[in-house]
Amino acid sequence: PRRVRIPHLMELKERGERWAMLTAYEQYAAEIFDRAGIPVLLVGDSASNNVYGNATSLPVTVDELIPLARAVVRSARRALVVADLPFGSYQASPEQAFLTSARFMKEAGAHAVKLEGGRPVLPAIAKLVESGVPVMGHLGFTPQSEHALGGYRVQGRESDAAKRLVEDALAVQDAGAFAVVLEMVPAAVAQEVTATLRVPTIGIGAGPHCDAQVLVWQDFAGLRTGPMPRFVKQYANLASVLDEAAQAFARDVVEGTFPGDEHSF
Ligand code: KIV
Ligand code: NA
Repeated sequence: PRRVRIPHLMELKERGERWAMLTAYEQYAAEIFDRAGIPVLLVGDSASNNVYGNATSLPVTVDELIPLARAVVRSARRALVVADLPFGSYQASPEQAFLTSARFMKEAGAHAVKLEGGRPVLPAIAKLVESGVPVMGHLGFTPQSEHALGGYRVQGRESDAAKRLVEDALAVQDAGAFAVVLEMVPAAVAQEVTATLRVPTIGIGAGPHCDAQVLVWQDFAGLRTGPMPRFVKQYANLASVLDEAAQAFARDVVEGTFPGDEHSF
């Protein structure tokens, strides 16, 4: 299969065709989503709280994400693989953003990077793009700023906040970003951003009008249990599948019904 490339995503927007993005952090999820035709896989810093056991996305490091990104790149034959730059790895300067991105591209083979924020990161976006690093932006609720934003809350509800969001999205596009994630934004605001931008918007909790949608795979597949954000739809229930499998295996071992003759030499 031919690799998905950025111009292909632009053509989809021009044709009005929507697409789906999923996170991936390891071999089998990446292989399955890639074969299922998901065109873009994100190695999110959400690995922090979906792989590494942290409570938030803040603690995960570049050194922890690079091996995951490498696994996804090795496993995806067609998908464009985007690596998230974790908190603290790009905010200090455009040079820091470039050096971090270069590690993801050289050590993991990532095809693009994603970073959070508007005006403060415009110089970093411009530096990356002029250095050959494709950049995906991320606006609205930005989890790396959750303490500054006062927790998980919808962004851009008031009319000046909505106006700022549209301006930020345009500025991120004009700095050279090839797509923009919109997280927890009112549907009408995301619709306006989507109509304003030439590049695709990718919504998560941003209503149905975005050019694309993204979900964290452990959420959409029901591997994670417990309270879910409103924007998650669970398409499977992997947690209960694995729970039943683990209990059945343990029972068979306790009862002596596994291994059977067919499993033995
Ligand atoms: O880290 C992540 O999973 C993300 C997506 C939810 C956009 O940033
Ligand atoms: Na992220």
